[in-house]
Amino acid sequence: MYYVGIDLGTSAVKLLLMDAEGRIKKIVSKEYPLYFPHPGWSEQNPEDWYEKSMEGLTELLDGCDKSQVAGISFGGQMHGLVILDEQDCVIRPAILWNDGRTYEENDYLNQTIGKETLSRYTANISFTGFTAPKVLWVKNKEPENFARIKKIMLPKDYLAYRLTGVHCTDVSDASGMLLFDVKNRCWSKEMLEICGLNYDQMAKVYESYECVGTLLPDVAERLGLSTNVKVAAGAGDNAAAAVGTGTVGDGRCNISLGTSGTIFISMKEFGVDKFNALHAFGHADGHYHLMGCMLSAASCNKWWMDDIIGTKDYAGEQKQIQKLGENHVYFLPYLMGERSPHNDPDARGTFIGLTMDTSRADMTQAVLEGVAFALRDSFEVAKALGVNIERTKICGGGAKSPLWKTIIANVLGIKVDVIESEEGPAMGGAMLAAVACGEYGSVEEIAEKLVKVVDTVEPDPALTAKYEERYQKFKQIYPACRKLFAALSDKE
Ligand code: XUL
Repeated sequence: MYYVGIDLGTSAVKLLLMDAEGRIKKIVSKEYPLYFPHPGWSEQNPEDWYEKSMEGLTELLDGCDKSQVAGISFGGQMHGLVILDEQDCVIRPAILWNDGRTYEENDYLNQTIGKETLSRYTANISFTGFTAPKVLWVKNKEPENFARIKKIMLPKDYLAYRLTGVHCTDVSDASGMLLFDVKNRCWSKEMLEICGLNYDQMAKVYESYECVGTLLPDVAERLGLSTNVKVAAGAGDNAAAAVGTGTVGDGRCNISLGTSGTIFISMKEFGVDKFNALHAFGHADGHYHLMGCMLSAASCNKWWMDDIIGTKDYAGEQKQIQKLGENHVYFLPYLMGERSPHNDPDARGTFIGLTMDTSRADMTQAVLEGVAFALRDSFEVAKALGVNIERTKICGGGAKSPLWKTIIANVLGIKVDVIESEEGPAMGGAMLAAVACGEYGSVEEIAEKLVKVVDTVEPDPALTAKYEERYQKFKQIYPACRKLFAALSDKE
């Protein structure tokens, strides 16, 4: 049988066709626009997600025996707010995970409701990109839209709704809404009240590997598929990527270098860090995870290469980098503000330490290193919790660069396991579909059987020591700039 994984990303939807043994048959990607209507705002049109996914599915399935397609599932960009009215029409463009407009609502939640109370209700505190502050933003700034809300959805759940007609979500993605009682895996009555929502507007919550329904007749007909094709709930893209890289069960780590950068630690038991610096969410394997999320990771390199230097030859630029660990230039990767661990929508990207002999290669290197140092900030929080991490998997667009993997292994001082397929969320989505269809007994079983490590990047003690020194300097830059970032902010 065949299984389809749909990774509903920020710049594109990626679709992957996998057979029952985990062999990837085909991958298709379709881009859609991302809108920044104001500095710090980030929006997309849900209709684009649906249309591009349908185009992608048509291309993906072209030429394959469609009677063999048994299941479809998702990994999706998290935290986005999609609101539908009585007629099932999208009320306004979706407000995305990297949108920083909700600083007032975020402050209200963290200061007036209080971090301790939020953590008690949801296991998390508020971040501007989370869904609850967005709901409050719509309530405060667009009351006429708020009054029309009939259904609230996350991005991949909008896609599931269009494919099946079922208003559903999964535990991992629901965890990132700040409306969800993560420990007990159900909506938080208190948070719904705080945000002026009711249960009827909320989706039915499933585990990621559960079947939510089958294809609607018109969708099945357009794709040439049977209406018996099962659709599984799927997961937030990071939990789906963790499944795709075998980061399930207890104490495993995955780093994702996509538009965002995350460090993800799977846990069998529920746990929260004292300051809620890391997100404590449900995992797609039925258990839990901790996660640090930086808002701009591979996107920093993409911005530097495509928009500033003006090249598509990423590997060629990286070949010019000769002296790892010795760069005098530092880069703060906060192009969209920052989430973990600073929680500061005003933070901005910054080069510091430039001299007359600074080269283009030094600056490219600084961008790659700045992302690695910022990941280390979250890694340090996890270590302070007593989590012992000696190795990590890695996935996402940035993971294609051997140099970046070496930098990360040495900045974090851990082994980086390279797996056969670095497709992350799309692979995880297909695996969740296979579990929902009964092809495998559990998420842990499929991960055990399908995910293969093909290489390991070992940290080099001399280089790790050099990076340790540089990280100690990097750590001082953001605190020194914080007040300045707030003063430079164009909020008012
Ligand atoms: C995670 C997060 C991002 C998005 C990217 O909390 O906000 O990783 O899921 O798609």
